[in-house]
Amino acid sequence: MPETTDLSVFLNVGERAAHDVESNLAGIGLTLENCDTVLDFGCGAGRTLRWLIQQFPHVRFYGADVDPQAIAWTKHHLPGAEFGLNSPTPPIGYPDASFDFVYIISVFTHLAFELQKLWLTELHRIIRPEGIVLFTVHGEHTWHWLSPDKLVRLRHDGFLFETSRKLQGILPDWYHTSFMTEYGVQQLLGQSFRLLAYNHAGMGYQDVVIAQRN
Ligand SMILES: C[S@@+](CC[C@H](N)C(=O)[O-])C[C@H]1O[C@@H](n2cnc3c(N)ncnc32)[C@H](O)[C@@H]1O
Repeated sequence: MPETTDLSVFLNVGERAAHDVESNLAGIGLTLENCDTVLDFGCGAGRTLRWLIQQFPHVRFYGADVDPQAIAWTKHHLPGAEFGLNSPTPPIGYPDASFDFVYIISVFTHLAFELQKLWLTELHRIIRPEGIVLFTVHGEHTWHWLSPDKLVRLRHDGFLFETSRKLQGILPDWYHTSFMTEYGVQQLLGQSFRLLAYNHAGMGYQDVVIAQRN
């Protein structure tokens, strides 16, 4: 979707994402009802969180992002969750085993495999044993964006990080667009997480991965 400042788009996309988080969890018999502590990692301006806060008032919600403006805004405008700023690389300032559930929407889709791996290792530390992580990836529904040679590389390596010349100087070098195969996702999860579900186009055109912390 092209970038827009339309408020109704912001609200609608967030509401749909909140619904999609729940329906993807429901697909494997899980629900936010049973969570005490939930983190939205890369929460931006709280587009998704604002809906979940209303729906699950008993849950202690947290939001983290690298964007100081987004975090300053959410702290001011979104009561009902605790927001914090983190650095582009780990660590993040939460104690071990803090969360039952961490969701990550349209964030790993922008990070190189190595950086995703670093963050998943850090999230493993802050998710409680047997806790759940849900994240989105650019799977098959987005590969038509790629040139044939890049698609060959993606299929061979399992992941691909594409930097856009147009966005150089606007976005940090570590924040561009990444693509992943299901094999790449398995490599990412490694021994730290067990794959529970891989839902093609589970959130718009992005695939949804749900895994349990070992
Ligand atoms: C495309 S936006 C998605 C925002 C939000 N998840 C949503 O769906 O509305 C990607 C967000 O990830 C954040 N981000 C990227 N790398 C991050 C990191 N290492 N730690 C925390 N946030 C990060 C960006 O600042 C941005 O707010």
